Amino acid sequence: MKRQLTYIHQLKNHISTDVDLAGWVYNVRSSGSLVFIECRDGSGMCQCIVNKEEVSEDSWEAAVSLKQESSIRLHGFVVSDERSIGGVELQVKKLEVIQLVADYPITPKEHGIEFLMNRRHLWLRSQRQWAAMRVRNGIIFAIHNFFQSRGFIQTDTPIFTPNAAEGSTTLFETDFFNEKAYLAQTGQLYGEALAMAHGLIYTFGPTFRAEKSKTRRHLSEFWMIEPEMAFYDLEMNMDLAEDMLKSIVAEVLDKYHHELALLERDTSSLKRLVEKDFVRIKYDEAVDILNSEKTAKVLDELIQQRKTDKEELLQEQDAIQKEHGSAKKWRKKQIEKRIIDIRTRVDQMEEDLRNIPKWKKSAQEFTWGSDFGGSDETVLTMQFDVPVMVTHWPAEIKAFYMKRDETDTYALGVDILAPEGYGEIVGGSQREDNLDLILARIEEEGLDPEVFDWYIDLRRFGSVPHAGFGLGLERTVAWICGLSHVRETIAFPRMMGRITP
Ligand code: 4AD
Ligand code: MG
Repeated sequence: MKRQLTYIHQLKNHISTDVDLAGWVYNVRSSGSLVFIECRDGSGMCQCIVNKEEVSEDSWEAAVSLKQESSIRLHGFVVSDERSIGGVELQVKKLEVIQLVADYPITPKEHGIEFLMNRRHLWLRSQRQWAAMRVRNGIIFAIHNFFQSRGFIQTDTPIFTPNAAEGSTTLFETDFFNEKAYLAQTGQLYGEALAMAHGLIYTFGPTFRAEKSKTRRHLSEFWMIEPEMAFYDLEMNMDLAEDMLKSIVAEVLDKYHHELALLERDTSSLKRLVEKDFVRIKYDEAVDILNSEKTAKVLDELIQQRKTDKEELLQEQDAIQKEHGSAKKWRKKQIEKRIIDIRTRVDQMEEDLRNIPKWKKSAQEFTWGSDFGGSDETVLTMQFDVPVMVTHWPAEIKAFYMKRDETDTYALGVDILAPEGYGEIVGGSQREDNLDLILARIEEEGLDPEVFDWYIDLRRFGSVPHAGFGLGLERTVAWICGLSHVRETIAFPRMMGRITP
């Protein structure tokens, strides 16, 4: 007979039947003749109850010996129980240990971030990390759905490349059979060639940047989705990007309630942006906003708000600390958990209180012609409740391939800034399609025309207006999941100071 495994996420379809599960012990506690196992099997989590009276001696002995992350097989009867996680519970009839575990290093108590990052291979099993990887999967799937349903072809572009495309300062150099090669910063230039063959294409691959930035938005290796469209101008490019983001968010909201709830994501701002038009402003207007009195006032108010919030949390902490001494066991646990929570939030507020005055200074002193820093993006997006698309950038601060407007001062580029402080998630542009102008731009940037000869061919043979953009996957995952750092948005992050595990 074929051996059938049931997965926890399907248990609702197996109520009042016997099933076989296999998984790991997430948590275990016993009370008299009962052992309660929170079992995870990758697909979800389920409470499994072992009753001494109803199992063999072997099963009972196994049950009482279990520790966190022991691997097990279970046979049991599924009952509906609304109070349980997932709405079901397993009444265990047989339990078998695959491996007993003694000292799993990640316990439910608080661990520091370095401790967890060094054990990323195990940390991935924790609920929040599990949820984030599921949402990442949902976002990837939604992206493919969006482009495939619109007739885009997914194309793959090389990772070893002979040239820089996004400025030479962030290249990882490698040795390619005694020739210098660089890890791709973008697939775009190859994407342009493919768009001339297929019309509508997108790439979905790893990209590499050697930026020496240790920020919550920077990885050295990240995944980028780059659509490229023949016959599109800047406007059409922006419409597509807006539709894409709405479509991703709508699909994730629809399918990933459970995961977003585990991540404690407040989804109201995500729901709102699906319905509303994104804000579209030019770079010049963005600079005016940064420099404005109104922005200074908004930031002052934010400082006041943080102070009040912090005070309230500290008062709550005082109150529950007093209650702790005489509280029942379950309540003590609850209080301890809440105190950890309060401390994290107070730390966050203190950090904000240190930072916001710096944001204010940076915004007020921002001068035309510079690129926005992380805090400038935060300050800009704070004033809107949907993503902000900034266009018409000073040409000098944008890449060589961007088409310029008729004044030759502005590049027809667009950055999309996500709300809630997440900042730039998309960078794109209409491309320079004129042969003479692209040659001039390559020369001005001091790039080697020989290396770019194939790219210039695209302007020699049937050149057409075209445009595209790049969506950073990890920043998108951070934003949709509400995570404060991109290191938790990819299974094994690569960033300055981190190449293991
Ligand atoms: O704005 P960028 O540099 O644009 C390009 O690479 C273009 N060639 C895209 C195109 O038009 N086809 O990068 C695009 C996006 C950014 O908006 C950001 O989301 C992400 O890639 N990104 C990073 N994500 C994580 N870590 C980094 N170091 C990133 N650098 C860029
Ligand atoms: Mg950019």
